[in-house]
Amino acid sequence: MNLVVVSNRVSRASANEPMTGGLAAALLPVVEKSGAIWVGSSGRVRDGAQKEPFAEIEALGAGALAMLDLPAAHYGGYYEGFANSALWPALHSRTDLICTSHDDYQSYREVNSFFARALLRFRKPDTAFWIQDYHFLALGAELRALGVTHPLGFFLHTPWPARDIFGGVPHHRELVEAMLAYDLIGFQTEGDRDNFLSYVDGDLGLDTTGGVVMSRYGVSRCAVFPIGIDPAKFAAHAAKAASHPDVSRLRRSLNGEKLAIGVDRVDYSKGLVNRLDAFDRMLTRQPQLKRSVSLLQIATLSRGTIEAYGDLQNQLAKLVSDINGRHGEVDWTPIRYLNKGFSQTVLAGLYRTAQVGLVTPLHDGMNLVAKEYVAAQNPVDPGVLVLSKYAGAANELDTALLVNPHDVDGMARTIATALSMPLLERRMRWEAMMAKLRAGTIQDWFADFVEALQQAHVVNDKTPVETLPVEPAVLWPVQSLGAGVGSRFH
Ligand code: G6P
Repeated sequence: MNLVVVSNRVSRASANEPMTGGLAAALLPVVEKSGAIWVGSSGRVRDGAQKEPFAEIEALGAGALAMLDLPAAHYGGYYEGFANSALWPALHSRTDLICTSHDDYQSYREVNSFFARALLRFRKPDTAFWIQDYHFLALGAELRALGVTHPLGFFLHTPWPARDIFGGVPHHRELVEAMLAYDLIGFQTEGDRDNFLSYVDGDLGLDTTGGVVMSRYGVSRCAVFPIGIDPAKFAAHAAKAASHPDVSRLRRSLNGEKLAIGVDRVDYSKGLVNRLDAFDRMLTRQPQLKRSVSLLQIATLSRGTIEAYGDLQNQLAKLVSDINGRHGEVDWTPIRYLNKGFSQTVLAGLYRTAQVGLVTPLHDGMNLVAKEYVAAQNPVDPGVLVLSKYAGAANELDTALLVNPHDVDGMARTIATALSMPLLERRMRWEAMMAKLRAGTIQDWFADFVEALQQAHVVNDKTPVETLPVEPAVLWPVQSLGAGVGSRFH
């Protein structure tokens, strides 16, 4: 089977370079190894891209990375508009932040259709397409409209909200109907899948028994595939990073003081304001903790041209400065707040230096930082994970200290509990979490989804793919991938 993986953001960074977002970082090593072609946005836009798509292709492990320049006229409406100002807030149950227009929706559909046409050139008789995330809810339907009968899988990295909340998205019905073009629709948790099926049942009136939906496209199977990490690799990074200058400088600067760490994109779904408030409250209620613990909050900036993100960046900068102003001393600062990214290797070293990991989103599909923090710990002296019950990871990492991120007092108390937890309890909790991480790695996630996709398609398939003629690349001259690797072409 030839696998084509599609996501808006792609990555070619190595473990030694900073990466943005859990999705691209998680996919990179498995895609590299699988020999798949990974197709995504180049981050550039071009006038006339729709008429004459332009891709840069380079080798990626055993496969290839193909980056498309997107149509200039539609990029803003697609990415900042419909994807990140309508779908993202709704998927994270923030319908109050939806801010979009009909033009944004048209641009979103245009970019989905643009990707579908661009993907035709990667199609072989035994190709399967695996589409990632909310940027491409309608891409499967666009591929079907072009006559593609190959296996089509979709995985949602974010939560899927309650039925009436998704109903707050303009054109919600068309979008979910379009999603049923996929043979297999994957979710992070049972709760997400159940919410989706409740929408399909309630709003579309389709039978959803056993997670199987029959629509005009045929059968779609809806299933749960919790994404994992490579815990052995993370542990190795953490051990190696101990001598990295950033990590040893941090350790020296702590002077024996304990450290709590948070690593997030600046996003309203991450609960950063509540977390900082909880840290503030802990220092106010338990002043004896001053000078014995500080917080390192790494907060990478993202989607900054969207108003809700710009506002949050300003709010956080002010909040950190207020807290440091109130609790700081001439030789002690409670919060170090950094708006820059770090490589996975350095991050692993920073996680291992911290006695407490704070992962407290208001809503999160999975949250791989939670898993990475656990995997990076020193087995003989592990730190404690404080984890929001609203992160998908809480389903598996149930021996973390689970918190309600809306209960600031409760979080403040839990952070203090984590700081004083005895070694035996820390080890028992950590070992239970490590066992879960080892039982569901990123490699398992990838293999399980691909296998389920093949099975779902066999059930669905009316016409064997092998008997279909391969359509010539309708938009671009045929060029073999091998020849295209490392070159730019039209
Ligand atoms: C989340 C989404 C990803 C996205 C990432 C970074 O993890 O699920 O699809 O790539 O955030 O966001 P960005 O908009 O910077 O790609």
